[in-house]
Amino acid sequence: MCGIVGYTGPNPALSKVIEGLRRLEYRGYDSAGVALATTLSQPLFVAKKAGKLINLENELASDHASAKSGIGHTRWATHGGPTDENAHPHISDSGKLAVIHNGIIENYVELRAYLEKCGYKFNSETDTESVVHLLSEEYKTTKDLSAAMRLVCQKLRGSFTLLAIHSDDPETIVGARRNSPLVVGLGEEENFLASDVSAFIAHTKRALELGQDQVVTVTPNEVNVTDLFGNGVTPKAFEITWDANSAERGGFAHFMLKEIFEQPKAISDTLAGRFNDEGKVQIPELKNLNLGIDRILILACGTAFHAGLIGKYALEEWSKIPVDVELASEFRYRKPVLSKNTLVITISQSGETMDTLMALRYAKELGAQTLSVCNTIGSTIPRESDAVFYTHAGPEIAVASTKALLTQIVGIHLVGLFIAQEKSSLSTAQINSLAAELSALPNKVEEILETVEPLREMTRGFKEATSVLFLGRHVGFPAALEGALKLKELAYMHAEGFAGGELKHGPIALIEQGTPVIAVLPPESSEIAEKMRSNIQEIKARGARVIAIADSSIDIDVPHLIRIPKTIELLQPILSIVPMQVFAYEMAVARGNDVDQPRNLAKSVTVE
Ligand code: F6R
Repeated sequence: MCGIVGYTGPNPALSKVIEGLRRLEYRGYDSAGVALATTLSQPLFVAKKAGKLINLENELASDHASAKSGIGHTRWATHGGPTDENAHPHISDSGKLAVIHNGIIENYVELRAYLEKCGYKFNSETDTESVVHLLSEEYKTTKDLSAAMRLVCQKLRGSFTLLAIHSDDPETIVGARRNSPLVVGLGEEENFLASDVSAFIAHTKRALELGQDQVVTVTPNEVNVTDLFGNGVTPKAFEITWDANSAERGGFAHFMLKEIFEQPKAISDTLAGRFNDEGKVQIPELKNLNLGIDRILILACGTAFHAGLIGKYALEEWSKIPVDVELASEFRYRKPVLSKNTLVITISQSGETMDTLMALRYAKELGAQTLSVCNTIGSTIPRESDAVFYTHAGPEIAVASTKALLTQIVGIHLVGLFIAQEKSSLSTAQINSLAAELSALPNKVEEILETVEPLREMTRGFKEATSVLFLGRHVGFPAALEGALKLKELAYMHAEGFAGGELKHGPIALIEQGTPVIAVLPPESSEIAEKMRSNIQEIKARGARVIAIADSSIDIDVPHLIRIPKTIELLQPILSIVPMQVFAYEMAVARGNDVDQPRNLAKSVTVE
């Protein structure tokens, strides 16, 4: 969670840091702050403010043009509420040293007790403030910020990305990471540090990944990485393929709307190069896996978990291998039985979700092979997996996940087809026909988006509803779960997804006169089409206002019918989810909510 950025170079640091924070604000928006090294060995300039970045920007009267290095932070509160005092940076007693932090310092209580005994005064309720005083203590003896940082990191428990600056060495920024992301952007006589590349893609496409327990020292012309004991490390370099413009809103009212409209291209990019001229599936990234597996386990959180639930149907049917899907946050706390014949697939847009990362590590400890389906190149989860399938959806800035989800589902389908091809559990003709269905999806999503206006208008008519229910069966059930999650997080309404067959076992009691129910219907050829129709009759009879999502093979009498193009049942969620995304988006706008930065949430959940 929390966004972190640092800049050192010839340009005014404040504008670079603020620009980076603007791009990272999706990671957390409870408060924001900056520290700038303006004058050698004098107290740093520090400004911090509760609330969104704009509050901080309004406070900044001057551009502090003399400052050539600076660090900035946008916070998602964990320890201590979203106040000015708890905002980062945190400052040493001398005012010459500043620290920003993403993550959780688990032993901060004992560190704080020790530091208070040493005479340090604390001004916040955060776990981070212990780090700045500890760093200050170590700096007294080392007089070297990098060496002091290494010693501090050895004493910390938990997860952290840390950046520190000291006015004694104003061009230097020192960073460190454990279980939390940090990348270096390599510019011309300037360098950047950030939680992710979106903070600096407008300035450079060259970047370095930092590994676990590494400390980096950055000046305008040099980057030096060591482990926690000062041994030199060669970091992995990578080129950023994302286009700088893709991190801008490009004329759309919100990032979420832009990302919804980017879905046809995102799916095309996921599919690009995956079928050769003979229709064979190509995923060379999987060559290191031994596909003699007898079980697949998908682990993920939130929307990515829904991608897993949807993907399971095709993956199991095509590969003939049993597939389970589990919340990463639950998996970690039980005693599962896994072996080298289990393939664990983690799904994550950010590649940094702490619960998914910890579940991945646990699965590895238990001996499973691991594959990550991920969007963010160079992030921790793919780095720690045996194999990775990148979805290439491009940067997803809105907190609510849209294009990442559709490409995750497509990614799982491609993996399923590849395994089926390797195991010969599908014939070449079957694979060719499925490849054609998958390849047709971008145009079909485009078709939905071209005719979305009436849906937007209809949604506004439901603005006053207190609760919306979502119904589906088979792959329509996890699609319904996703529809409900989107509405909860964006419109702050009660929303729940149900399996049609479960209605009579309890949820039907929720239906009263006028309750809106969004029902996802399968194609008429599905064996559950008739059953879904009966479910709709049952809820209509009890007063539900039904909004049905169906292709033209389905004939149904409901007050609102949203048509989607035809595809095979297994792939239908890739189409049926789109209107539900638009519904949630429009509802949030109609209710005056902040679409891109919904309350209490953050994009990348890097704490447990
Ligand atoms: C919901 C949403 C979240 C994420 C979840 C996992 O719209 O975005 O539920 O899907 O936090 O995030 P990643 O995919 O980054 O692991």
